[in-house]
Amino acid sequence: MAARRKPSLIPAKPAQISEASEAPKPSASDADDPPLRPPKLSLIVPASALFFLPYFFLLYFYYDVEPSLRRSIAINAAMSLGGFIVVVRLIPVAAKYVLRRSLFGYDINKKGTPQGSIKVPESLGIVIGIVYLVIAILFQHFNFTSDSNWLVEYNAALASICFMILLGFVDDVLDIPWRVKLVLPAFAALPLLMAYAGHTTIIIPKPLIQYVGVAVLDLGWIYKLYMGLLAVFCTNAVNIHAGINGLEVGQTVVISAAILIHNLMQIGASGDPEYQHAHAFSIYLVQPLLTTSLALLSFNWYPSSVFVGDTYTYFAGMAMAVVGILGHFSETLLLFFLPQVLNFLYSCPQLFKIIPCPRHRLPRFDPQTGLLTGTKDGTLVNLFLRLFGQSTEKSLCIRLLFFQALSCLLCFWLRYILAGWYK
Ligand code: UD1
Ligand code: MG
Repeated sequence: MAARRKPSLIPAKPAQISEASEAPKPSASDADDPPLRPPKLSLIVPASALFFLPYFFLLYFYYDVEPSLRRSIAINAAMSLGGFIVVVRLIPVAAKYVLRRSLFGYDINKKGTPQGSIKVPESLGIVIGIVYLVIAILFQHFNFTSDSNWLVEYNAALASICFMILLGFVDDVLDIPWRVKLVLPAFAALPLLMAYAGHTTIIIPKPLIQYVGVAVLDLGWIYKLYMGLLAVFCTNAVNIHAGINGLEVGQTVVISAAILIHNLMQIGASGDPEYQHAHAFSIYLVQPLLTTSLALLSFNWYPSSVFVGDTYTYFAGMAMAVVGILGHFSETLLLFFLPQVLNFLYSCPQLFKIIPCPRHRLPRFDPQTGLLTGTKDGTLVNLFLRLFGQSTEKSLCIRLLFFQALSCLLCFWLRYILAGWYK
């Protein structure tokens, strides 16, 4: 696949270079920048309340959670709320700076309308990544002691997420070819894989025990390989289920919300402190992911005033992969990722070049009607348009997110009916 050429990467003629070097550097307060549209808080805040009110009801009233665990989750939630506010304030500032460095994209699904010719600031995921890391690093002060066993894995997880943010940003700036892009998460997962000292065993599903011969199987290094592959899958899966306003962030918001509920349910159902801590660990890493993503969504929801970039898609995918790995619920995570799994399978012929793969596998936009039509490219976005007919970009995104939520509900239902029989 041809690499995108960002305007900043197109070599300038020598005369242009000398002119540019003599020109005064623009300051962040230049008046010629068009102001960013305000965040859609009237949509995001009620939607967030709809999730967080029942969530805190479960945490405080429904489940009998140990008070110290409850306190840590509440501190983390308060810091995550702070993260939401900081991101909402930082994005307009950062958007000006990325535009200055020519990091922008054109909204392809608005081509042919005035909105299609606006330079939309790209890679705003870098703001989310930084705020997220600051919250996650500071949180250690409130929760872990220096002899805490969790500290090593927690910091290894943060190192992997940080490495992924760096590589995602490198990709946004340098526009790395697709094949190289695919393996970047494998490098980013290394800190976690090398520091991982947890168990490498898997519990064999009950119906399969008679064939395998044991109830618990030690996979050794294969387990670490599996962890690495999961990280590669989750990151790329989010990145290729993309391209319409709000979808990249929206899917992360829905999956993060499902992961939080799953963790709470597991904490509530178990009396084993070790098991509870594994799930609390996931909560500490997912709460800030959810709130910072909600803040980003307030700018990225249709019509997007900023794009998230591969910085965000890689970061979000890696954050969800590490919580699934360290919380030992990777099978559940893959069920939450059902739309991404389907999209990946459907994409395989194009990803592996069996049939041609264009740079963007997006629907066709008709500026006269404002409707999108599905193309033959193998993505869930196109498949939805072909199955359910033409639609606007906004309602297509809502449909896809509804499908994401249904997949998460299906996963909860499957866990419920298979409990006791499967494992
Ligand atoms: C992946 C997909 C590609 C899809 C792209 C959209 C594969 C193999 N690659 O590529 O098909 O087109 O994501 O993100 O499946 N954009 C919009 N509207 C949006 C979001 C993005 O028009 O709501 C466009 C903008 O021009 C933006 C660009 O997509 O600048 C970002 O594309 P990028 O993330 O670099 O594409 P890939 O991740 O390489
Ligand atoms: Mg992308």
